[in-house]
Formats: sequence, C-alpha cells, structure tokens
Amino acid sequence: MLERIRAEVERIRREWEEAKGTVRSPEELERLRVRFLGRKGEVTVLFQFLKEVPGEQRAEAGRLINALKEGIQGELSRIRDELEATLREERLRREAFDLTLPGRWRPLGKLHPLTQVRLEIERIFMEMGFDVATGPEVETDYYNFEALNIPEDHPARDEWDSFYIDDTHLLRTHTSPVQIRVMKSRKPPVRIICPGRCYRRDTPDATHFPVFHQVELLWVERGLTMAHLKWIIEEFVRQFFGPGYEMRFSADYFPFTEPSAQVHIRRKGGPWLEIMGAGMVDPAVFEEVGYDPEEVTGFAFGLGIERMAMLKYGIDDIRLFFQNDLRFLEQF
Ligand code: PHE
Repeated sequence: MLERIRAEVERIRREWEEAKGTVRSPEELERLRVRFLGRKGEVTVLFQFLKEVPGEQRAEAGRLINALKEGIQGELSRIRDELEATLREERLRREAFDLTLPGRWRPLGKLHPLTQVRLEIERIFMEMGFDVATGPEVETDYYNFEALNIPEDHPARDEWDSFYIDDTHLLRTHTSPVQIRVMKSRKPPVRIICPGRCYRRDTPDATHFPVFHQVELLWVERGLTMAHLKWIIEEFVRQFFGPGYEMRFSADYFPFTEPSAQVHIRRKGGPWLEIMGAGMVDPAVFEEVGYDPEEVTGFAFGLGIERMAMLKYGIDDIRLFFQNDLRFLEQF
C-alpha cells in the first residue's frame, strides 16, 4: 500500500510539475489549486487512502502526502506572487506617462490688445483719483458738437467727418461729449476719464479706421493750470511707456479748449509722434454746462487707444486691430 501511495505521489508531482508551467492568469492558477488541493483534489483524495495503509507504514505515507501538499502549496503562493508582480508591472507600463512628450495645446482666450491697453490706461488714471465715466455711442448733434462750442456752420466740423443717423443723431466722433454729459449732471470738482468707441468717415489705411477708441480726461476744479495738465500727461507717459521718453507741447486749436495743444512724444533720438489733443476747458463750454468760469478752471485731453497700442508694441498698421487674425492677437 505504501508503494502505491509513493507511486501516486510521484505521479501527482509530475502532473503538477507539468501543469504549473502553463499558468498565465490568477484564474488558471485557482483552477490548478482546486485540481490538486481542492476538496476533491488529487492530493486531498490521496489522504483518504491513508486509512488503508497498515499502521507501521501510515506515518511514512502521511509524510509523503504532506510533503507533496506543502510543496504544491508553497509553489502555488510563489507563482501567485510572481503573477501579481507581472500583472502590476504590465499595468504600470500601460499607464505610464512619457514626461518628454510635448503637452496638449489648449487654446485659452484672452483680452484683445486694445482692451488690455484701455484697462492699463484706466488703471493709471484711477490710481491718480479719476473716475471712469461713459456715454452713448449714438450721440445728438448737441453733445457731440454744439455744447462743445462747435456751432452748425463752424468750419471745425470738417475736422470730424461724421456718420449721421438722422438730422440730429450721429455716431459720436470723439469722447468729448461725455465731458458735457458729466458736467451737466455733477457739480465741480470733476475728475473723470471716459474711454469709448468713436466713429469717423475715414477711408481705412495704415493710420485711419472708421471705428477707433479714445480715452478722454477731464479735470475741473478751482485753480487748475496748464502746469497740472502737463504734469498729468508726463506722469501718464512715464507709467505707460516707461522711462526714456521725451514730451513736447505745441500749439493747436480745438473749439472747446483755450489754449489748445497737441502732445508729441519720442524715444530719445526717435521721431516725434502725436499722442493726443489737449487744452484748458474753454469758458464757453463751462457756461454751456452751468459752471462759473470765474470760479473753476479745468483741462481735458483726448488720446487714441489704437495710437497708444501701436506706439507701445511697434504696430505699424491700425487695421490689424480689427481683422481678428489670431496670429496677430495671440502675440498679446
Ligand atoms: N476731442 C478731440 C479730438 O477727438 C481731442 C481733445 C479732447 C482735444 C479734449 C482737447 C481736449 O480730436
């Protein structure tokens, strides 16, 4: 009987040796465990023959079967560990990132360069204590011209080629009408800037476009002089363009300011570039809005946002701002 058991143990061991090499998955391994060590497994069944083994040989037979069982158990758990390690490695390899790959490009919207420049200009003047005021783009003849001391037959109207909507309404040609609206609704002192879109009947070229943007500034108070105006502009240029710019005032004419000036700036040695029209508010304008010109003085200027952006970024064609070409816009 012992010999039969020995032979069975040998047979099962050989079978096991053959079978264990074929295992590729935890499921196959489990099937193998059931086949050898399960309740009706080959090794388990062998134990049932023990009682048929004569007493003096039973211990030896028991040892043989136990050794077989423990051998298989040990190998099962070793194979399980190896299998798990391989699976884990495979998964890691599958899920691995290649950190050297270029990232995915996700397009991100941003503010139009003219908006960026406007916000920067607003920031500078708000820090100086100016409020932001706005007005309508469709204006009446009265606010756009008459209240600014430009009567119907005034030759200066030719300066602003306008889009009329009907007999009395037009697209505003500058932001100066906002001055009038604000002064008519507030008592002095007034300290405002008015950013906004303006329209002129210009043929588009590198420096003209029928739609453009201005920032108007108006400061009205007791005792203001041209020196304050000059200081404000100087300080603005320094903050907006950085150091290294020179500024020049020269005489100009606007019906709503007296005296009037145009302001040029240049980088040391570069050409002079006009950046704005400016001047002391004309007494006729104060009278129109109900301010006493003997009490208060004030100054105003109007600068073009496109012009500021072109100077700051070296852009040589104003039309680029309005073409919505991403290759241009993405640079800002
Ligand atoms: N409104 C003028 C223009 O558009 C500019 C300006 C504003 C001049 C304020 C003087 C004072 O040409």
